[in-house]
Amino acid sequence: MAHSIRSHNPAQELCGVSLNAPMAHIKVLMCYAIPGRVVGLEDRIAFVDYFGETKKARNDFFQLSIGEYVYAQGGFVIQRISESEAKAVLNTWEELFFKLKEIDSDLAQNPKDLRQKANLIRQKHQGNSCCVHGIIEFSNHCRCDCLYCGIRSSNTAIERYRMTVEEIIDAAYFAISELKFKALVLQSGEDTWYDEDKLLAIVQGILRKSPALLILSIGEREAGLYEKLYQAGARGALLRFETSNPDIYSKLRPAHNLDERINLIKKLRDIEYLIMTGFLIGLPGQTQDDILSDIQMTNSLGTDMFSFGPLIPHPQTPLSGVPCPSIDDTLDTIARARIMNPDARILVTTSMETIDKENALRSGLLSGGNSLMVDVTPAKYKKLYDIYPNRPGMDAEVSETIASVLKLLNSIGRAPVDLGL
Ligand code: 5AD
Repeated sequence: MAHSIRSHNPAQELCGVSLNAPMAHIKVLMCYAIPGRVVGLEDRIAFVDYFGETKKARNDFFQLSIGEYVYAQGGFVIQRISESEAKAVLNTWEELFFKLKEIDSDLAQNPKDLRQKANLIRQKHQGNSCCVHGIIEFSNHCRCDCLYCGIRSSNTAIERYRMTVEEIIDAAYFAISELKFKALVLQSGEDTWYDEDKLLAIVQGILRKSPALLILSIGEREAGLYEKLYQAGARGALLRFETSNPDIYSKLRPAHNLDERINLIKKLRDIEYLIMTGFLIGLPGQTQDDILSDIQMTNSLGTDMFSFGPLIPHPQTPLSGVPCPSIDDTLDTIARARIMNPDARILVTTSMETIDKENALRSGLLSGGNSLMVDVTPAKYKKLYDIYPNRPGMDAEVSETIASVLKLLNSIGRAPVDLGL
Protein backbone atom coordinates (compact mmCIF):
# COMPACT_ATOMS: atom_id res chain seq x y z
CA MET A 1 0.00 0.00 0.00
CA ALA A 2 1.47 3.32 -1.06
CA HIS A 3 0.02 5.34 1.80
CA SER A 4 0.81 5.43 5.46
CA ILE A 5 -1.04 7.17 8.20
CA ARG A 6 1.13 8.37 11.04
CA SER A 7 -0.88 8.04 14.20
CA HIS A 8 -2.99 4.94 14.32
CA ASN A 9 -4.69 3.95 17.52
CA PRO A 10 -7.94 2.32 18.57
CA ALA A 11 -9.58 5.71 19.21
CA GLN A 12 -9.06 6.47 15.57
CA GLU A 13 -11.19 3.50 14.73
CA LEU A 14 -13.95 5.74 15.97
CA CYS A 15 -12.47 8.29 13.65
CA GLY A 16 -11.26 10.74 16.28
CA VAL A 17 -8.48 13.27 15.94
CA SER A 18 -7.56 15.21 19.07
CA LEU A 19 -7.41 18.96 18.94
CA ASN A 20 -5.33 21.62 20.58
CA ALA A 21 -6.85 24.43 22.62
CA PRO A 22 -9.35 26.08 22.73
CA MET A 23 -11.50 22.97 22.30
CA ALA A 24 -9.09 20.32 23.50
CA HIS A 25 -11.83 18.46 25.35
CA ILE A 26 -13.72 17.83 22.15
CA LYS A 27 -12.71 15.19 19.68
CA VAL A 28 -12.96 16.03 16.05
CA LEU A 29 -14.65 13.21 14.29
CA MET A 30 -13.25 11.93 11.07
CA CYS A 31 -16.37 10.20 9.94
CA TYR A 32 -17.88 12.26 7.17
CA ALA A 33 -21.25 10.80 8.04
CA ILE A 34 -23.28 10.20 11.17
CA PRO A 35 -24.91 6.81 11.48
CA GLY A 36 -28.67 7.12 11.18
CA ARG A 37 -31.42 4.70 12.19
CA VAL A 38 -33.85 3.54 9.53
CA VAL A 39 -37.32 4.53 10.72
CA GLY A 40 -39.29 4.06 7.51
CA LEU A 41 -39.02 2.37 4.12
CA GLU A 42 -41.02 3.22 1.05
CA ASP A 43 -40.01 1.70 -2.31
CA ARG A 44 -36.47 2.93 -2.96
CA ILE A 45 -36.54 5.52 -0.18
CA ALA A 46 -35.29 5.00 3.37
CA PHE A 47 -36.29 7.46 6.08
CA VAL A 48 -33.32 7.87 8.37
CA ASP A 49 -33.33 9.43 11.83
CA TYR A 50 -30.41 11.54 13.09
CA PHE A 51 -30.84 12.75 16.65
CA GLY A 52 -34.58 13.22 16.12
CA GLU A 53 -34.38 14.70 12.61
CA THR A 54 -35.61 12.51 9.75
CA LYS A 55 -33.95 12.68 6.33
CA LYS A 56 -34.63 10.77 3.13
CA ALA A 57 -32.02 8.66 1.39
CA ARG A 58 -32.31 6.50 -1.69
CA ASN A 59 -31.68 2.86 -0.99
CA ASP A 60 -30.35 1.24 -4.16
CA PHE A 61 -27.95 -1.24 -2.67
CA PHE A 62 -29.36 -3.00 0.43
CA GLN A 63 -32.26 -5.09 1.72
CA LEU A 64 -32.96 -2.91 4.75
CA SER A 65 -35.25 -3.37 7.74
CA ILE A 66 -36.63 -0.78 10.11
CA GLY A 67 -34.33 -0.27 13.09
CA GLU A 68 -31.08 -0.91 11.19
CA TYR A 69 -28.27 1.65 11.20
CA VAL A 70 -26.83 3.08 8.01
CA TYR A 71 -24.51 5.73 6.66
CA ALA A 72 -25.94 7.89 3.90
CA GLN A 73 -24.00 10.16 1.57
CA GLY A 74 -25.22 12.47 -1.14
CA GLY A 75 -28.75 11.25 -0.50
CA PHE A 76 -27.88 7.56 -0.98
CA VAL A 77 -27.63 4.86 1.65
CA ILE A 78 -24.07 3.70 1.12
CA GLN A 79 -23.18 1.55 4.11
CA ARG A 80 -25.12 -0.45 6.68
CA ILE A 81 -23.46 -0.87 10.06
CA SER A 82 -24.06 -2.86 13.21
CA GLU A 83 -26.05 -1.38 16.08
CA SER A 84 -23.07 -1.56 18.44
CA GLU A 85 -20.78 0.28 16.04
CA ALA A 86 -23.46 2.88 15.34
CA LYS A 87 -24.09 3.47 19.02
CA ALA A 88 -20.40 3.86 19.78
CA VAL A 89 -20.04 6.49 17.06
CA LEU A 90 -23.30 8.23 18.04
CA ASN A 91 -22.21 8.46 21.68
CA THR A 92 -19.06 10.28 20.65
CA TRP A 93 -21.09 12.53 18.39
CA GLU A 94 -23.96 13.46 20.65
CA GLU A 95 -22.36 16.27 22.64
CA LEU A 96 -20.47 17.60 19.65
CA PHE A 97 -23.45 17.56 17.28
CA PHE A 98 -25.41 20.15 19.23
CA LYS A 99 -22.38 22.17 20.29
CA LEU A 100 -21.25 22.64 16.68
CA LYS A 101 -24.73 23.74 15.61
CA GLU A 102 -24.63 26.42 18.27
CA ILE A 103 -21.21 27.74 17.20
CA ASP A 104 -22.33 27.84 13.56
CA SER A 105 -25.57 29.60 14.35
CA ASP A 106 -23.80 32.21 16.54
CA LEU A 107 -21.30 32.96 13.77
CA ALA A 108 -24.07 33.43 11.22
CA GLN A 109 -26.08 36.04 13.13
CA ASN A 110 -26.27 39.76 12.23
CA PRO A 111 -24.93 39.59 8.69
CA LYS A 112 -23.46 42.86 7.44
CA ASP A 113 -22.30 42.19 3.89
CA LEU A 114 -23.08 39.98 0.90
CA ARG A 115 -20.91 37.09 2.10
CA GLN A 116 -22.27 37.11 5.62
CA LYS A 117 -25.82 37.20 4.23
CA ALA A 118 -24.98 34.19 2.08
CA ASN A 119 -23.61 32.45 5.16
CA LEU A 120 -26.85 33.03 7.06
CA ILE A 121 -28.85 31.65 4.13
CA ARG A 122 -26.59 28.57 4.11
CA GLN A 123 -27.07 28.13 7.84
CA LYS A 124 -30.87 28.45 7.64
CA HIS A 125 -31.35 26.19 4.61
CA GLN A 126 -28.54 23.67 4.86
CA GLY A 127 -27.63 23.59 8.53
CA ASN A 128 -24.09 23.05 9.69
CA SER A 129 -23.22 19.90 7.81
CA CYS A 130 -20.28 20.09 5.43
CA CYS A 131 -19.58 17.22 3.05
CA VAL A 132 -15.94 16.24 2.97
CA HIS A 133 -15.12 14.08 -0.03
CA GLY A 134 -11.83 12.47 -0.95
CA ILE A 135 -10.44 12.74 -4.47
CA ILE A 136 -8.11 10.33 -6.25
CA GLU A 137 -6.50 11.76 -9.40
CA PHE A 138 -5.68 8.55 -11.20
CA SER A 139 -4.29 9.70 -14.56
CA ASN A 140 -2.97 12.95 -16.02
CA HIS A 141 -3.17 11.80 -19.63
CA CYS A 142 -5.73 13.83 -21.53
CA ARG A 143 -6.89 13.83 -25.13
CA CYS A 144 -8.21 17.41 -24.80
CA ASP A 145 -6.20 20.54 -25.40
CA CYS A 146 -8.01 23.11 -23.25
CA LEU A 147 -6.10 26.37 -23.27
CA TYR A 148 -6.31 26.80 -19.48
CA CYS A 149 -5.29 23.34 -18.34
CA GLY A 150 -1.81 22.19 -17.37
CA ILE A 151 -2.45 18.57 -18.42
CA ARG A 152 -3.60 19.61 -21.93
CA SER A 153 -2.41 17.23 -24.62
CA SER A 154 0.07 19.71 -26.12
CA ASN A 155 1.93 20.25 -22.86
CA THR A 156 4.94 18.07 -23.55
CA ALA A 157 6.79 19.38 -20.48
CA ILE A 158 4.89 17.34 -17.92
CA GLU A 159 5.57 13.82 -16.80
CA ARG A 160 2.49 11.70 -17.49
CA TYR A 161 1.24 8.88 -15.25
CA ARG A 162 -1.53 6.35 -15.11
CA MET A 163 -2.46 4.38 -12.03
CA THR A 164 -3.24 0.74 -12.68
CA VAL A 165 -6.68 -0.63 -11.91
CA GLU A 166 -5.24 -2.36 -8.82
CA GLU A 167 -3.51 0.81 -7.61
CA ILE A 168 -6.76 2.75 -7.89
CA ILE A 169 -8.70 0.08 -6.01
CA ASP A 170 -6.00 0.00 -3.29
CA ALA A 171 -5.93 3.80 -2.96
CA ALA A 172 -9.73 3.87 -2.69
CA TYR A 173 -9.71 1.08 -0.13
CA PHE A 174 -7.21 3.00 1.95
CA ALA A 175 -9.24 6.22 1.72
CA ILE A 176 -12.46 4.47 2.69
CA SER A 177 -11.27 2.00 5.30
CA GLU A 178 -8.38 3.90 6.92
CA LEU A 179 -9.15 7.56 6.30
CA LYS A 180 -12.89 6.91 6.71
CA PHE A 181 -14.10 8.70 3.61
CA LYS A 182 -17.65 7.85 2.61
CA ALA A 183 -17.53 9.58 -0.77
CA LEU A 184 -14.71 9.50 -3.29
CA VAL A 185 -14.20 11.36 -6.53
CA LEU A 186 -12.26 9.40 -9.14
CA GLN A 187 -10.74 12.00 -11.42
CA SER A 188 -8.53 11.84 -14.50
CA GLY A 189 -7.84 13.66 -17.71
CA GLU A 190 -10.02 12.48 -20.58
CA ASP A 191 -8.04 9.29 -20.93
CA THR A 192 -9.50 6.56 -23.13
CA TRP A 193 -6.77 4.13 -22.05
CA TYR A 194 -9.32 3.47 -19.30
CA ASP A 195 -11.82 1.66 -21.50
CA GLU A 196 -15.14 0.21 -20.44
CA ASP A 197 -13.58 -2.95 -19.01
CA LYS A 198 -11.03 -1.06 -16.92
CA LEU A 199 -13.51 1.51 -15.62
CA LEU A 200 -16.01 -1.19 -14.73
CA ALA A 201 -13.26 -3.17 -13.00
CA ILE A 202 -12.35 -0.06 -10.98
CA VAL A 203 -15.90 0.74 -9.86
CA GLN A 204 -16.81 -2.88 -9.11
CA GLY A 205 -13.44 -3.58 -7.49
CA ILE A 206 -13.75 -0.63 -5.12
CA LEU A 207 -17.35 -1.32 -4.18
CA ARG A 208 -16.72 -5.01 -3.64
CA LYS A 209 -14.10 -4.17 -1.00
CA SER A 210 -15.60 -1.07 0.58
CA PRO A 211 -18.97 0.54 -0.09
CA ALA A 212 -18.86 4.27 -0.78
CA LEU A 213 -20.44 6.99 -2.86
CA LEU A 214 -18.30 6.94 -6.01
CA ILE A 215 -18.23 10.08 -8.10
CA LEU A 216 -16.78 9.88 -11.61
CA SER A 217 -14.82 12.80 -13.03
CA ILE A 218 -13.53 11.33 -16.27
CA GLY A 219 -14.58 13.91 -18.84
CA GLU A 220 -16.72 13.59 -21.93
CA ARG A 221 -17.10 9.85 -22.36
CA GLU A 222 -20.07 8.14 -24.06
CA ALA A 223 -23.41 8.26 -22.25
CA GLY A 224 -23.67 4.46 -22.69
CA LEU A 225 -20.43 4.01 -20.76
CA TYR A 226 -21.68 6.26 -17.96
CA GLU A 227 -24.89 4.20 -17.93
CA LYS A 228 -22.91 0.97 -17.41
CA LEU A 229 -20.82 2.57 -14.66
CA TYR A 230 -24.03 3.67 -12.94
CA GLN A 231 -25.30 0.10 -13.10
CA ALA A 232 -21.99 -1.00 -11.59
CA GLY A 233 -22.70 1.26 -8.60
CA ALA A 234 -21.19 4.70 -9.32
CA ARG A 235 -23.67 7.38 -8.28
CA GLY A 236 -22.04 10.78 -8.86
CA ALA A 237 -20.69 12.56 -11.94
CA LEU A 238 -18.47 15.64 -11.79
CA LEU A 239 -18.22 17.42 -15.13
CA ARG A 240 -17.88 21.18 -15.27
CA PHE A 241 -19.31 22.99 -18.29
CA GLU A 242 -16.47 25.52 -17.69
CA THR A 243 -18.33 28.57 -19.05
CA SER A 244 -21.87 29.28 -20.20
CA ASN A 245 -20.57 31.68 -22.85
CA PRO A 246 -20.39 29.66 -26.11
CA ASP A 247 -17.82 31.99 -27.71
CA ILE A 248 -15.42 31.78 -24.79
CA TYR A 249 -16.03 28.03 -24.62
CA SER A 250 -15.12 27.39 -28.24
CA LYS A 251 -11.99 29.53 -27.99
CA LEU A 252 -10.74 27.72 -24.88
CA ARG A 253 -11.74 24.17 -25.79
CA PRO A 254 -10.64 23.62 -29.39
CA ALA A 255 -12.77 21.13 -31.33
CA HIS A 256 -15.38 21.12 -28.56
CA ASN A 257 -18.85 22.50 -28.38
CA LEU A 258 -20.72 23.81 -25.35
CA ASP A 259 -24.05 22.26 -26.39
CA GLU A 260 -22.54 18.79 -26.55
CA ARG A 261 -21.12 19.14 -23.05
CA ILE A 262 -24.40 20.46 -21.67
CA ASN A 263 -26.31 17.64 -23.38
CA LEU A 264 -24.02 15.08 -21.80
CA ILE A 265 -24.54 16.62 -18.35
CA LYS A 266 -28.31 16.41 -18.94
CA LYS A 267 -28.00 12.77 -19.98
CA LEU A 268 -26.02 12.04 -16.81
CA ARG A 269 -28.79 13.63 -14.81
CA ASP A 270 -31.35 11.48 -16.66
CA ILE A 271 -29.33 8.38 -15.78
CA GLU A 272 -29.89 9.65 -12.21
CA TYR A 273 -26.32 10.48 -11.34
CA LEU A 274 -25.84 13.10 -8.65
CA ILE A 275 -24.61 16.03 -10.70
CA MET A 276 -21.64 18.16 -9.77
CA THR A 277 -20.86 20.88 -12.23
CA GLY A 278 -19.81 24.48 -12.56
CA PHE A 279 -17.38 26.85 -14.20
CA LEU A 280 -14.11 28.72 -14.09
CA ILE A 281 -13.84 32.29 -12.81
CA GLY A 282 -11.40 34.66 -14.54
CA LEU A 283 -11.46 33.37 -18.12
CA PRO A 284 -10.30 35.89 -20.72
CA GLY A 285 -13.27 37.87 -22.03
CA GLN A 286 -15.57 36.73 -19.19
CA THR A 287 -17.79 39.46 -17.71
CA GLN A 288 -19.70 39.68 -14.41
CA ASP A 289 -22.87 38.96 -16.42
CA ASP A 290 -21.26 35.79 -17.76
CA ILE A 291 -20.58 34.68 -14.20
CA LEU A 292 -24.21 35.28 -13.24
CA SER A 293 -25.24 33.21 -16.30
CA ASP A 294 -22.75 30.54 -15.18
CA ILE A 295 -24.46 30.38 -11.78
CA GLN A 296 -27.86 30.20 -13.45
CA MET A 297 -26.74 27.50 -15.84
CA THR A 298 -25.30 25.44 -12.96
CA ASN A 299 -28.65 25.69 -11.26
CA SER A 300 -30.73 24.97 -14.35
CA LEU A 301 -28.86 21.71 -14.88
CA GLY A 302 -30.38 20.38 -11.66
CA THR A 303 -26.99 20.40 -10.01
CA ASP A 304 -26.61 18.70 -6.64
CA MET A 305 -23.26 20.27 -5.93
CA PHE A 306 -21.79 23.47 -7.37
CA SER A 307 -18.13 23.11 -8.28
CA PHE A 308 -16.51 26.28 -9.53
CA GLY A 309 -13.23 27.99 -8.90
CA PRO A 310 -10.71 30.57 -10.04
CA LEU A 311 -8.57 30.05 -13.11
CA ILE A 312 -4.98 29.67 -11.95
CA PRO A 313 -2.80 30.47 -14.97
CA HIS A 314 -0.47 27.60 -15.75
CA PRO A 315 2.97 28.58 -17.10
CA GLN A 316 2.94 25.89 -19.80
CA THR A 317 -0.39 26.93 -21.32
CA PRO A 318 -1.45 29.70 -23.70
CA LEU A 319 -3.21 31.38 -20.75
CA SER A 320 0.01 31.73 -18.73
CA GLY A 321 -0.18 35.53 -18.81
CA VAL A 322 -3.82 35.89 -17.79
CA PRO A 323 -4.27 37.54 -14.38
CA CYS A 324 -5.54 35.34 -11.58
CA PRO A 325 -8.92 36.44 -10.19
CA SER A 326 -8.81 37.94 -6.71
CA ILE A 327 -9.92 36.00 -3.65
CA ASP A 328 -12.62 38.66 -3.17
CA ASP A 329 -14.11 38.02 -6.61
CA THR A 330 -14.11 34.31 -5.90
CA LEU A 331 -15.75 34.68 -2.48
CA ASP A 332 -18.38 37.01 -3.92
CA THR A 333 -19.18 34.38 -6.54
CA ILE A 334 -19.70 31.79 -3.81
CA ALA A 335 -21.96 34.26 -1.99
CA ARG A 336 -23.99 35.01 -5.14
CA ALA A 337 -24.32 31.31 -5.95
CA ARG A 338 -25.58 30.68 -2.41
CA ILE A 339 -28.07 33.56 -2.47
CA MET A 340 -29.41 32.36 -5.82
CA ASN A 341 -29.49 28.71 -4.64
CA PRO A 342 -30.24 28.42 -0.94
CA ASP A 343 -30.45 24.62 -1.03
CA ALA A 344 -27.35 23.80 -3.07
CA ARG A 345 -24.18 22.23 -1.84
CA ILE A 346 -21.37 24.52 -2.82
CA LEU A 347 -17.82 23.25 -2.94
CA VAL A 348 -14.96 25.41 -1.74
CA THR A 349 -12.25 24.31 -4.17
CA THR A 350 -8.57 23.76 -3.55
CA SER A 351 -7.83 26.21 -6.40
CA MET A 352 -9.11 28.92 -4.03
CA GLU A 353 -6.41 27.91 -1.58
CA THR A 354 -3.82 28.61 -4.24
CA ILE A 355 -4.77 32.29 -4.18
CA ASP A 356 -5.11 32.53 -0.40
CA LYS A 357 -3.38 29.65 1.37
CA GLU A 358 -4.11 30.78 4.90
CA ASN A 359 -7.77 31.75 4.76
CA ALA A 360 -9.47 30.52 1.60
CA LEU A 361 -11.23 27.48 3.05
CA ARG A 362 -12.47 29.35 6.10
CA SER A 363 -13.57 32.39 4.09
CA GLY A 364 -15.25 30.21 1.45
CA LEU A 365 -17.19 28.30 4.11
CA LEU A 366 -18.24 31.58 5.71
CA SER A 367 -19.42 33.01 2.36
CA GLY A 368 -21.97 30.30 1.59
CA GLY A 369 -19.81 27.24 0.89
CA ASN A 370 -20.57 23.89 2.53
CA SER A 371 -18.44 21.25 0.93
CA LEU A 372 -14.73 20.40 0.72
CA MET A 373 -12.50 17.89 -1.00
CA VAL A 374 -9.30 16.34 0.30
CA ASP A 375 -6.72 15.01 -2.14
CA VAL A 376 -6.08 11.38 -1.29
CA THR A 377 -4.06 10.55 -4.40
CA PRO A 378 -1.00 8.42 -3.50
CA ALA A 379 1.94 10.72 -2.73
CA LYS A 380 4.06 9.58 -5.67
CA TYR A 381 1.43 10.73 -8.21
CA LYS A 382 -0.09 13.73 -6.47
CA LYS A 383 2.33 16.37 -7.75
CA LEU A 384 2.07 15.12 -11.32
CA TYR A 385 -1.62 16.02 -11.55
CA ASP A 386 -0.53 19.49 -12.52
CA ILE A 387 -3.73 21.07 -13.89
CA TYR A 388 -2.71 24.36 -12.27
CA PRO A 389 0.43 25.43 -10.42
CA ASN A 390 1.01 25.81 -6.66
CA ARG A 391 -1.66 23.35 -5.64
CA PRO A 392 -1.94 23.29 -1.87
CA GLY A 393 -0.96 20.40 0.37
CA MET A 394 1.43 18.74 -2.08
CA ASP A 395 4.08 18.05 0.56
CA ALA A 396 1.74 17.35 3.47
CA GLU A 397 0.87 13.90 4.74
CA VAL A 398 -2.78 13.21 4.01
CA SER A 399 -3.41 12.66 7.73
CA GLU A 400 -2.09 16.19 8.44
CA THR A 401 -4.34 17.71 5.77
CA ILE A 402 -7.35 15.89 7.18
CA ALA A 403 -6.53 16.96 10.74
CA SER A 404 -6.25 20.60 9.69
CA VAL A 405 -9.51 20.49 7.70
CA LEU A 406 -11.33 18.95 10.65
CA LYS A 407 -9.83 21.49 13.03
CA LEU A 408 -11.03 24.29 10.78
CA LEU A 409 -14.55 22.84 10.55
CA ASN A 410 -14.66 22.41 14.28
CA SER A 411 -13.61 26.02 14.87
CA ILE A 412 -16.52 27.36 12.82
CA GLY A 413 -19.13 24.89 14.03
CA ARG A 414 -19.42 22.69 10.97
CA ALA A 415 -19.97 18.98 11.23
CA PRO A 416 -17.88 17.03 8.71
CA VAL A 417 -20.88 14.99 7.64
CA ASP A 418 -23.35 14.66 4.85
CA LEU A 419 -26.79 14.00 6.24
CA GLY A 420 -28.39 13.59 2.86
CA LEU A 421 -31.46 15.25 1.49
N1 5AD B 1 -6.97 26.66 -12.99
C1 5AD B 1 -8.05 26.28 -12.28
N2 5AD B 1 -8.82 25.22 -12.58
C2 5AD B 1 -8.48 24.53 -13.68
N3 5AD B 1 -9.06 23.45 -14.27
C3 5AD B 1 -8.33 23.11 -15.33
N4 5AD B 1 -7.29 23.96 -15.47
C4 5AD B 1 -7.37 24.85 -14.47
C5 5AD B 1 -6.59 25.97 -14.08
N5 5AD B 1 -5.51 26.36 -14.77
C6 5AD B 1 -10.32 22.84 -13.79
C7 5AD B 1 -11.35 22.73 -14.92
C8 5AD B 1 -11.64 21.27 -14.99
C9 5AD B 1 -11.24 20.78 -13.61
C10 5AD B 1 -10.93 19.32 -13.53
O1 5AD B 1 -10.09 21.54 -13.33
O2 5AD B 1 -12.51 23.47 -14.55
O3 5AD B 1 -12.98 20.96 -15.28
